[in-house]
Amino acid sequence: LVTCSVGDTVVIGLAADSGCGKSTFMRRLTSVFGGAAEPPRGGNPDSNTLISDTTTVICLDDYHSLDRTGRKEKGVTALDPRANDFDLMYEQVKALKEGKAVDKPIYNHVTGLLDPPELIKPPKILVIEGLHPMFDQRVRDLLDFSIYLDISNEVKFAWKIQRDMAERGHSLESIKASIEARKPDFDAYIDPQKQYADAVIEVLPTQLIPGDNEGKILRVRLIMKEGVKYFNPVYLFDEGSTVSWIPCGRKLTCSYPGIKFTYGPETYFGHEVSVLEMDGQFDRLDELIYVESHLSNLSSKFYGEVTQQMLKHSEFPGSSNGTGLFQTIVGLKIRDLYEQITEAKASAPLQASKA
Ligand code: ADP
Ligand code: G6P
Repeated sequence: LVTCSVGDTVVIGLAADSGCGKSTFMRRLTSVFGGAAEPPRGGNPDSNTLISDTTTVICLDDYHSLDRTGRKEKGVTALDPRANDFDLMYEQVKALKEGKAVDKPIYNHVTGLLDPPELIKPPKILVIEGLHPMFDQRVRDLLDFSIYLDISNEVKFAWKIQRDMAERGHSLESIKASIEARKPDFDAYIDPQKQYADAVIEVLPTQLIPGDNEGKILRVRLIMKEGVKYFNPVYLFDEGSTVSWIPCGRKLTCSYPGIKFTYGPETYFGHEVSVLEMDGQFDRLDELIYVESHLSNLSSKFYGEVTQQMLKHSEFPGSSNGTGLFQTIVGLKIRDLYEQITEAKASAPLQASKA
């Protein structure tokens, strides 16, 4: 994406289907910036916004133009662009990027209604997360960096079962039916956004166990676009080479089926990318330091920062596998991007204000 520096706020887009780990990712990201994000104090208790010292995360569900009843009447899902107000989304993200506060609507997930708006002040970093951050070209052009969480159907199903059956008491059949019902709109409006992402985290069933599709052991791929300003992809051992690494030996405890890393150049939707892949999971999280020591361009502030972040949030879902590892790495990359953009503006204030 082209970085356009119109204001002071750096804007990050995070796209994924719901229930695919966006809020977990946001907790990892804000932790890298050194503060937990919380809902706005004293406001609507059903607000979807999270605010920390540096970062404001807004949920794009707030730009639903049709509430739950409206969607039902018109027969459209929340994934359908017709249920969303992209004009308002564009206007407000643009205003925030230019340093202006906005009155953002609130979609109430409890009632399914649109609540009175809340005041959002321009933060240092604005994250827009949801179903459509890269759908509308005007909004897309405002993004300084974009991420797509690409959870394969098998894994999505396993996660939904875990959450909706165990925690919400839904039946297996109803979970299957709701995934199936969303699929056509997901394929039409959500999935295509991944072609625009600067980084994609792809989550697939393991290849270490032949025929496995249980969704417990994961193969996770971090797809990083080459040539993105302020973003240098992470690499394993030797930049640009193709590498396969099974680190299970003297330094790393690996029970069945083990851990396998691969790294190398690929093409993704016609773009040159670097892909770092981890299949399997860690037995002992503190041993991650051994893996960290073999990765370069991590944008960490000190040796061991990735491992420290992972240990700090070991209770978050995905901490023992590539989902947690790559979300943490992308968090460090975003901090680095933010610092570079801020530095560039400080040294060229005139150019920045003209752009
Ligand atoms: P979202 O914000 O996209 O709706 P969450 O971060 O709340 O997603 O995650 C939804 C659920 O999906 C979690 O409660 C958990 O059950 C499951 N989940 C999310 N990320 C992972 C992961 N990396 N590994 C395993 N399960 C996960
Ligand atoms: C998606 C959207 C939500 C919406 C939900 C259910 O997950 O992100 O905003 O509430 O779908 O939609 P429904 O029309 O069933 O309320």
